[in-house]
Amino acid sequence: MLPPSDPARFAIGFDARDRSRLHALWDEVIDSQQWSEGALTRRFEELWGARHDTGAVAFGSWAGGALAALTFAGVGPGDVVLCPSNTFMATPLAALHLGADVVFLDCGRDDLCATLAEFERAIGQHRPKAAFLVHIGGHLAFEVEAIAKVCQEAGVFLIEDCAHAHGASLGGGHPGTWGDAGIYSFYATKTVSTGEGGMLVSRHQDLIAFAAAFRNYGKPDHEVQGLNFRMSEFTAALGVVQAERLDEIVAWKNAVARRDLDPVYASRLQVPDAMVSGLYKYIVFDRLDRSTGRVYDQPCHRLLGHHVDLPNSDWVAEHHSCVPLYYRPQLSAPSPA
Ligand SMILES: Cc1ncc(COP(=O)(O)O)c(C=O)c1O
Repeated sequence: MLPPSDPARFAIGFDARDRSRLHALWDEVIDSQQWSEGALTRRFEELWGARHDTGAVAFGSWAGGALAALTFAGVGPGDVVLCPSNTFMATPLAALHLGADVVFLDCGRDDLCATLAEFERAIGQHRPKAAFLVHIGGHLAFEVEAIAKVCQEAGVFLIEDCAHAHGASLGGGHPGTWGDAGIYSFYATKTVSTGEGGMLVSRHQDLIAFAAAFRNYGKPDHEVQGLNFRMSEFTAALGVVQAERLDEIVAWKNAVARRDLDPVYASRLQVPDAMVSGLYKYIVFDRLDRSTGRVYDQPCHRLLGHHVDLPNSDWVAEHHSCVPLYYRPQLSAPSPA
């Protein structure tokens, strides 16, 4: 076990300075006598939506948001959903849960994300109803803009999996705003975490209304058949505090990466000039002794036994490692940018 002061030891991106504010918000929740569907959930959604310039609906997990988006897109048994193979099993499983056929896409060796060429090939070949683009590692898929355009022109409903992408941007644009919907996870290891939680962002107001009903058994009119994917008010309070701290977390991680890690790791993943990575992971194309392991050890097409040839996904699984980089402002202050 690493000592608590070791920068390599996992740390949740929670700032000790936020402890008293969080406790005050939790007291507010206790006093409000409304522990779900209350003011803190709305506040968290407003903050996340304002950041993205979209509507936002909080969920109990990424999975709830993904099911809402896929259901809104009309995905059902026999429909094809495109999905990068280099992702967490949550992504294909959400589509499989609705009875869809998942077609896996290969990734780029530079960004670990599905490529435009793969989208073009698979759209022509499989006529999908919907597609996932997963932003792996904290940066955005390098070809996100062109991929979104191709999907829009082909009538493919594009869902950006933003589980890793907190705080990333490209030319000022935020994750989840190129596709039809973006889904965040606030699971316990994410750049900002609420322990468990998720958020759907979208510029489509009809999807926002659908998602709000979907997470709550279709209330109030029950035209939507969802289940319980609500976020509790205590979790939302944590989300408010974390959302307000996000820019600082990302700036800190980037400053420490530039100062301490870049000079050591020449084989690091490098993002285009116009892109800011939230640095969920600091990825190097090397196998290192002192690492936190790999983003994913095995591509999903292998885990699910699909007999398709996706050489870059196999290559990426074998040829990268993640260097520890956890938000610990008390240990190491970044120099001013
Ligand atoms: C890429 C990706 N998608 C989806 C998920 C699922 O998120 P959740 O656990 O909040 O359902 C995760 C991680 O947990 C993830 O890393």
